[in-house]
Formats: sequence, structure tokens, C-alpha cells
Amino acid sequence: MTVKQSVAWQALEAHLQKDIVPYSLKQLFNGAGAQRFGDLSITTQGLLLDLSKQKLTPETLHLLIDLAQQQGLAQATKKLYSGGKVNRSELRPALHTALRAASSDQYSAVQIDGQYVNQLVDENLLDMERIASKIQRGEWLGYSGQPITTVVNIGVGGSDIGPHMVCHALAEFRVETKFPLDVMFVSSMDGSQLAEMLQHLDQGSTLFIIASKTFTTVDTLANAETARAWLRKKIPSDSLIGQHHIVGCSAFPERMAAWGIPSENQIALWDWVGGRYSLWSGIGLPIAIKLGMASFKQLLKGAHAMDEHFQNAKLHENLPVMLALTGIWNINFLGLKAHTILPYDGRLKLLPNYLSQLEMESNGKSVTNAGEKVDFDTSPVIWGDVGANAQHAFFQLLHQGTPAYYADFIVPVKRTASKEYTNATRVQLEYQQALNLANCIAQSRVLMLGDDVLNWEQSIAASPDRLYPGNHPSSTLMFDELTPESLGLLIALYEHKVFVQAVVWDINPFDQWGVELGKQIAKSTLSAIQKRQAGATSAEGAEFDASTEGLLNHMFKHHY
Ligand code: F6P
Repeated sequence: MTVKQSVAWQALEAHLQKDIVPYSLKQLFNGAGAQRFGDLSITTQGLLLDLSKQKLTPETLHLLIDLAQQQGLAQATKKLYSGGKVNRSELRPALHTALRAASSDQYSAVQIDGQYVNQLVDENLLDMERIASKIQRGEWLGYSGQPITTVVNIGVGGSDIGPHMVCHALAEFRVETKFPLDVMFVSSMDGSQLAEMLQHLDQGSTLFIIASKTFTTVDTLANAETARAWLRKKIPSDSLIGQHHIVGCSAFPERMAAWGIPSENQIALWDWVGGRYSLWSGIGLPIAIKLGMASFKQLLKGAHAMDEHFQNAKLHENLPVMLALTGIWNINFLGLKAHTILPYDGRLKLLPNYLSQLEMESNGKSVTNAGEKVDFDTSPVIWGDVGANAQHAFFQLLHQGTPAYYADFIVPVKRTASKEYTNATRVQLEYQQALNLANCIAQSRVLMLGDDVLNWEQSIAASPDRLYPGNHPSSTLMFDELTPESLGLLIALYEHKVFVQAVVWDINPFDQWGVELGKQIAKSTLSAIQKRQAGATSAEGAEFDASTEGLLNHMFKHHY
């Protein structure tokens, strides 16, 4: 039996038919009056979650809380925080919360394989600081004595997207360095990003971080080999390359060593940190290098504040719980299978991509913890972009298209312009933030009310082409200002949201077996390509379907 057959789920189904289906969002607003915002919005540490534009009532939230309780949320959360093996298929804890709690004694008793987790985390932070500050002070020298002025992170998935997103979002917080310092990211397997980048870099002043939890990911190792081939052009030995130009972060020190990374250039990672939950660990080294350790710790502090809130706040005042349950409502009861993330802030451009990995890789599952096939939807398809830019791209579909979806609007209230600007520029930038806020609020309102919004102000005679059905649910997350701390808070909010949904669905959010088969088949396909390159006329020994065979033939016919 899955959660769908449970008492709490059935109660929600009955409530849906009786109290929600007959009404539009506009009617729900009209019925509740001004009180609706007060009833359906919650705040913690300056982060406001407005759920009033969701197609639900306070009663829906009560029933959803019953569902979460019925599914054992309190026990599951306790297990997560105490280092229990919440990753069932790999028999591992998922202790990303410990990475941001080093200064508290919450984890002082938690040991994994005989090692105290908080000690490991403290040592790790010291290693990161040692490397980051040496680079920032201009004391990390390349093989010829030149200071390092470019750091390139080579990684993919969780070893790329998280640090990349944070470095992009918080670029204004970059730390002062002795020499101008660039931090760049390379992930694509095809080498195209790296090839373009290398043309502008200099071997003597470039340091590569090879970030791979497993240190077996072919995308990352292929880019790392290309980088090393490029370094070899100028640098006489691999030991000089390893010593001066490579830093590694992995849970497998022996693999880093075998690749040629000396132990002093290695940062440890552990199997109890999931890839997509790893920006708080040594995988966050590019963040520490670009923003400085103080800002990195502020990021951890913000996430830790959300960890405490999630652990301690009552369920109806708990932001991750409410965000998660609203998602469950949208997906499982209202049948919405797509979710758009709309940050109204150019600095958060990479956030939708980050959240698509976090959510879809975690909860894109179809088997329960008991091994039963689910009979309900799990993670929706997640996509998004900077909201104001998306208004000129896919908002047409949001307003007048046919697929059913829900949206998260994310926006900071203030945007403090750098003191370097003149007054006139600052005034103009403040105007731009007002413009941005107005668009954010207006768009969620139009999604909710459709063309009825005009009845509130004026009326127009609309042609069918100009009609807006509205009735699209959305949440708005508003916070004071984008800082390392508020970004930490925001990311941890979504991490815990994903966890709560997994608990309700009774699935494992911490493994990702769905990415393995493709990797395996790519290996045998590569070997078939290489055989043909060596002169074989067809994929000897390999049994391919007609499409694969056809594509391979086309490739070779066109002079691969
Ligand atoms: O293939 C998926 C994945 O395993 C992600 O879960 C992970 O974040 C990414 O690849 C990178 O893995 P690694 O850090 O081991 O190179």
C-alpha cells in the first residue's frame, strides 16, 4: 500500500472535491478577503513565503500537515540530523546539515567510521582556508614563480552547479586579492568550454580544481586530462603540474594521488555528503577562493539557520515543510506536473538550473522505500530563468498556453548598489529594482487572476487572442537582500523541501541510480566508435538497434 491509499490522502481528496475544485483562485481570494495573505504567509529570518496565491485554504494546509505527520516526518527528520542511514539503497547517512554546523556542538557525538563528523568538518574548513587564502594573498605560485590569477573548477553536476551558482550570485561579494583573480567553471564533456577558455589562459598563472566526489566521472576526468595536456605544453614535469597547478576534492584520496595530485593539494570529501548537497563542503572551494572564507562561513551560517528552523519550528510555521506540502498539493491533487522557478534577480540566473538538479535528481523516482511502484507523481519537471527575462520568452506559455504548472517567484526587496557608483547611477539602479519588484508582483497577480485583473482597475473588450485564463497558482519568496547568509538560507530551504516531499512519498531522495545505465551504455558505444575508427566496418560484436546503427553510419559517412 502506498501513501495514496492512506487515510490522510483520502481526506485531502475529499477536501479537494468539496472545497477547492468548485472555486477559482479569484473566488478563494474573494471569500477570505484581506485575511488570506495573513493566513497563508509565513516568515523566518527575514524570508517571507507567501502561499496565498496557491489554490488552497488554511484547511488544506492542516490536512497536508496530517499527511506529513502520518508519513513520519518528525522521525525521518530526527534520523537525517542524527546521521542515520537515510540513503537506503547505498546504506549511507546524508549529513549535509553537519557541514554547516561546525561551530555548534550538535554533531559532537556523531561518529562515522570511527571519526567525529564535526572534527572532519573543522579540518576541512581549515584546509579550504589554507588554500584559498594562499591564492588570495598572491602566494600560490605557478611552476615558474608567477602568482596564480586564474582558477578553473573542473567538475560536473553537484561538483559544478552549486559552486558555480553561488559564485555567480554573490560576485559582488568578491574578496580583495593581491592580484586580480578570475574563478571560472568548466563542465561540458565535449571539451568545448575548456577549449575556448584555454585560448585565453596562461599555463604559468592558472590553477585547476578537479572536483569529483567519486573521481571516476568521465566528463570531469576527460576535461582534467585536456587541461593537463595543455599544461604539459609549457611545464616540464607532471610533478610540477600536480604541485603548482592542480587541487583536487574527492572522497577518494588514493584516486587523486594516482592521478598526480599531491596530498597537500587534496581536499577531503566523504560518502555521507551527496553530490547535489555538496556546495557546503570542499566542493565549495571556488566559493571560498572567490568570496573569501568569511563569506563562505556566512553562507554556511544562513544554511544552518534554516536547518535549525526546519528542525524546531512548528509544522504550520515551518517554511520548508509548507513549501514542500504545497508542492505535494499541486503535483498530486491538482495534477500539475511542471514547476517553474522565477528568480527576479539577474544574480540568481543559475538558481533554476541548480534547483532542477536538486529536485529532479533527488525526487525523480518511481519506487518507494519498500520497493513498490508508486501510483502517484513524484518530482515535477523543473525549469526556469530570471523572471523578468522569462517574461520575454516563455511567459507567453505561462499566460496563454495549455500545460498545467505552478510557479515560485523569488525576489529580494533591496538591492544595495556598490558605493563605487555615482549618485545618479545609484538612483537609476534603485529605479531598476523598483521596476523589477513591480514586474514580479504584477506577474504573479496576472497569473492568478488572468484578465479579471483588469476588472479591478478598468475594463477592456478583449478579443479571444487577448484572453488570459489566469487561475495559475504560485508562491512568492521575498527576502531582504541577497547576501551570502540569505542565499544559504534560501538554498537550505529548498534542500529541506525536497527531503519533506521524499518523506511524504516514501522515496529515497539521496541516491541517483537513474543516471547509471546511460553512463554504462555510453562506454560500450564509445568502444564501438573506436573500433570503427580503427577500421572495423560495422559495430562488430555490438548489437545495436536500427536507430543507433543508422546514427553511427551517418557519423562515419560524414567523416567523423
Ligand atoms: O551522474 C550524476 C552524478 O553522480 C551527480 O549525482 C553528481 O553530482 C555528478 O554526477 C558528479 O559526480 P562526481 O562529483 O562524483 O564527479
